[in-house]
Amino acid sequence: MAILPQFVWTFIAAQLLPLTFVNYIHTFKFMLTSRRIVATSTIHLPVSYSIGTAQNPNLSTLATTSKITLTSLQPLLTLDYGTEVLGIPTLDVDEISGLAQIELRYSEEFAGLDNVNGDGPFNFANGLTNMFRAETFEIAKPGNFQSYFAQGGLRWQSIRLLTNGSITISGAGLQGATILPSNQLPGAFNSSNGLYEDIWNLGAKAVQTACVEKGGLKPTWDITDDGALIYGQQTGQSVKGMGYSNYTMSFTTKIVRGGTGWRVATPAHSYGPYFVLTSNYPTNSTFVNTNTTLLPANNLIVGYGWGLVNVTTLTTGPVQNYPVQISISENEWLRITTSITPQGFLVLVNNVTIATISYTEGIAFASHYGSSSVTAGSWGFGPYQDQVAYVKNVEVTAANGTTIYENSMASTEILKEYGMGTNDASVCLDGSKRDRLVWIGDFVHTARILGASMNRTDFISGVMDFVFARQITSVGYVPMDAQMGTSIQYKEVYYPANFIIMDYQIFFLVTIGDYYQMTGDLALVDKYWQQTKLVATAILSFVDSASGLLGSEYAYFFSGPSNGTAPSALMVLALRQLIPVAVAVGDNSTAQAYKSAADAISTSINEKLWNDELGFYSLSLTSPEDFSAAGLAFAIRAGIANATQATRSISNLPLLKYGLGYMDDTTVTKSNETQLSPNILGFLLESLFIANMTMGVQTLDVATDLLENFWSKMVTQNEYYTGASWEYLYPDGSPGIGLYTSLSHPWGGAPTYILPQYVLGISALDPGYKKWQFKPLVYGMGLDTSEGVVPTPQGGIHASWKLAGGGLLLNVEAPSGTTGTISLPFVPSDISVSCEGRYAGGALVEVNGGSSCKIFALE
Ligand SMILES: *[C@@H]1O[C@H](CO)[C@@H](O)[C@H](O)[C@H]1NC(C)=O
Ligand SMILES: *[C@@H]1O[C@H](CO)[C@@H](O)[C@H](O)[C@H]1NC(C)=O
Ligand SMILES: *[C@@H]1O[C@H](CO)[C@@H](O)[C@H](O)[C@H]1NC(C)=O
Ligand SMILES: *[C@@H]1O[C@H](CO)[C@@H](O)[C@H](O)[C@H]1NC(C)=O
Ligand SMILES: *[C@@H]1O[C@H](CO)[C@@H](O)[C@H](O)[C@H]1NC(C)=O
Ligand SMILES: *[C@@H]1O[C@H](CO)[C@@H](O)[C@H](O)[C@H]1NC(C)=O
Ligand SMILES: *[C@@H]1O[C@H](CO)[C@@H](O)[C@H](O)[C@H]1NC(C)=O
Ligand SMILES: *[C@@H]1O[C@H](CO)[C@@H](O)[C@H](O)[C@H]1NC(C)=O
Ligand SMILES: *[C@@H]1O[C@H](CO)[C@@H](O)[C@H](O)[C@H]1NC(C)=O
Ligand SMILES: *[C@@H]1O[C@H](CO)[C@@H](O)[C@H](O)[C@H]1NC(C)=O
Ligand SMILES: *[C@@H]1O[C@H](CO)[C@@H](O)[C@H](O)[C@H]1NC(C)=O
Repeated sequence: MAILPQFVWTFIAAQLLPLTFVNYIHTFKFMLTSRRIVATSTIHLPVSYSIGTAQNPNLSTLATTSKITLTSLQPLLTLDYGTEVLGIPTLDVDEISGLAQIELRYSEEFAGLDNVNGDGPFNFANGLTNMFRAETFEIAKPGNFQSYFAQGGLRWQSIRLLTNGSITISGAGLQGATILPSNQLPGAFNSSNGLYEDIWNLGAKAVQTACVEKGGLKPTWDITDDGALIYGQQTGQSVKGMGYSNYTMSFTTKIVRGGTGWRVATPAHSYGPYFVLTSNYPTNSTFVNTNTTLLPANNLIVGYGWGLVNVTTLTTGPVQNYPVQISISENEWLRITTSITPQGFLVLVNNVTIATISYTEGIAFASHYGSSSVTAGSWGFGPYQDQVAYVKNVEVTAANGTTIYENSMASTEILKEYGMGTNDASVCLDGSKRDRLVWIGDFVHTARILGASMNRTDFISGVMDFVFARQITSVGYVPMDAQMGTSIQYKEVYYPANFIIMDYQIFFLVTIGDYYQMTGDLALVDKYWQQTKLVATAILSFVDSASGLLGSEYAYFFSGPSNGTAPSALMVLALRQLIPVAVAVGDNSTAQAYKSAADAISTSINEKLWNDELGFYSLSLTSPEDFSAAGLAFAIRAGIANATQATRSISNLPLLKYGLGYMDDTTVTKSNETQLSPNILGFLLESLFIANMTMGVQTLDVATDLLENFWSKMVTQNEYYTGASWEYLYPDGSPGIGLYTSLSHPWGGAPTYILPQYVLGISALDPGYKKWQFKPLVYGMGLDTSEGVVPTPQGGIHASWKLAGGGLLLNVEAPSGTTGTISLPFVPSDISVSCEGRYAGGALVEVNGGSSCKIFALE
């Protein structure tokens, strides 16, 4: 058990109690002793607080030594951590009188604290954290107290005393991985416009809170001699039952508190019928806030889908209750049997029939999320919020009476089987609070942000290890959103449900190219070269022979339709990225094949999708009069668009302008809840700088608009601010999926790698920055200065530029063993170069790394 340091705070409410410090020995644990020991190193502490009867946005600063007492007169403590943090909630309790039940809520945005479920629940996946964002505890004695689960990202927390006693708290925090202030990261960026530094920080914060060190989290099931001890969470399904249907599943369960939960006929994703059996709610273990409308005592509660409540974008079926005629005691073993019969789900408890639940409701919701049948699929276990139960002796019999599965649930092997293991690689998730899956499409931004800020390229290799280990080599695909805790041994079980977005495969190829360019790590790209080629081959099979574009009725692309510009141009980009990798690993024939394929797709795009009349790349062959931001962005980055095409397309961007940002494409329905995507707009932003830098296209007004009016919203609105980049925005600049929006999502953080590369102007010319370029963007963004550090394998390249004294002052210090080219924005009339460098004439200066190089150039 981790013993936490005593930490304390000060505030005015201390008037309630004398400021005595009680040094308790921290041995107490609530109810069921948890054995969470996590490889973490920090207690994240709140910075301000309020106390009263309702949430109050006017918080006071928390400082040093003091204590907060919650009573029925002022039951609610609100804590603000200032920016995104995550980890295991911990409390130091100094004193209790009477019964002390407290409800904790968590949220990224302030308003989530006013919602009964916080900003959750996050039903989509088990991210080795609590899917619930509200949890209740009874504190029996003073001491240090820790939640069973870690929480994913949050900024706000509330603690409400539910009962009539009082509780004095001397500390609260989250125990989790260290999050460095941005000024302590290896990468850095700032400029004369301070907003841009704040925007750079967004991605840097997002990757720090969305990437997870190998082994840094523990399984969320405890395996005991009495079977699996499971705290309320999304169910985990056995990989062994996916192929079965119409079976009877029995298990023995002991409710420790509240109830027990299970599924049958469910795919690997937790989407299917969900059963909860509630206890008779004995007063000594039942929380006073138990929602007896949703979960009445002695009832079988049945939902169909993800769980028992709807959240934005994750709809679940209606919930039905079946009163149980026997009293369900806690701490007693029960045998629960669920049969998938022609009449419906027949549920028995201790041989007593509880209900037959017809399939009618289920059928209406069955055809979602890889679940196609109400009677087929595996079984799984997971009690509901704040419930705790043991599960053992699972037995499944087929309709013909044959026993097809038996498990005592007392071996840690079941963690792999039920997808409930730990994280066996250092990986980056899509977001800090959700989905907490290794989404490889999102990762195309994440990887570059890692390089530009944390310099943790080992997270990129970690994701490559994790993802390639789960490749289905017979078809070539890698999983688009593998879950931590699942086992390589059972990778086929997750196919095809976790492999359906085909351009996520392409993004992964782009990342492999980016990784090589960033690190020059030939060993790793070589190790995975055959597997990389399998992915590329699988996607190239979707090139339609009639159109020459990427298109198939069997393929779904996230970035745009089949036979459309976005997926086709993205594939051209991926192939072009892989050519230097192919050459480096000595596979010239593949390099040649990729070049031919890229050229052919590129030609088809220009021939068939360039709409010369309207001046943009069409969304697809069947939507010639529509266009998308992603299509334009990829056509530019892949080198498909020429200067005229780029100029004309960009001049059409006002057609996408909506609210504070730009829509994905011209077919999007406009409403106050249109989702504007910083993921897509990150691709667009980079393409604007590329078009400006390489083709001299006037794009910087749009780039400036995106930074000043769109990304700025992640910085300037305190009620939503987390210090990190967001998943979606509504047109008014508020979070784009309501409370459910991930407000720490690296896919929204592209400026973190774009600003240093294009505005400061440091980029790699050779893999691993052995040769680099310093090409400052001095004009067009309204800046006078810019400065930053770009991490490289040899160390950081420190650079700055400044307009001063009628000229341009440049300063660069690069690691020895590298050489660089400095490109001036004009041919100087006079120039002084003080370093181991050489003025090469025109606007070029060549320098060797290892010394500080100062250049002053007059226009
Ligand atoms: C609640 O009371 C029952 C019966 O007295 C006892 O068996 C059980 O251990 C108690 N539970 C708790 C959590 O105190
Ligand atoms: C209880 O659950 C019902 C049904 O989901 C919900 O409408 C209600 O808001 C919940 N009440 C509380 C206090 O959580
Ligand atoms: C969720 O919303 C859907 C559609 O609006 C509705 O049919 C369903 O009953 C809701 N589920 C719950 C648990 O409220
Ligand atoms: C399972 O039972 C349903 C009727 O309840 C039937 O339609 C279905 O075909 C059965 N599945 C198998 C694989 O036997
Ligand atoms: C259920 O009934 C069977 C025989 O029909 C019996 O062997 C078993 O002990 C009963 N189980 C329980 C939990 O009562
Ligand atoms: C009974 O059903 C199971 C599962 O479908 C099957 O594997 C087994 O062969 C069947 N046994 C007999 C005797 O039909
Ligand atoms: C793509 O375009 C070709 C040529 O027009 C057509 O034959 C094919 O069916 C299209 N594919 C899809 C998925 O629409
Ligand atoms: C592969 O191509 C590279 C660059 O085009 C060339 O330098 C090298 O000699 C070629 N290698 C082989 C084995 O052909
Ligand atoms: C750019 O592409 C368009 C369309 O293919 C073509 O008409 C035009 O000549 C090209 N312009 C240049 C400068 O190459
Ligand atoms: C959008 O407008 C509808 C109808 O006026 C309103 O209910 C909803 O809250 C609005 N959404 C946002 C995000 O402002
Ligand atoms: C970045 O990490 C690499 C190791 O991957 C190290 O060699 C390099 O010095 C680091 N650069 C900076 C700026 O910290």
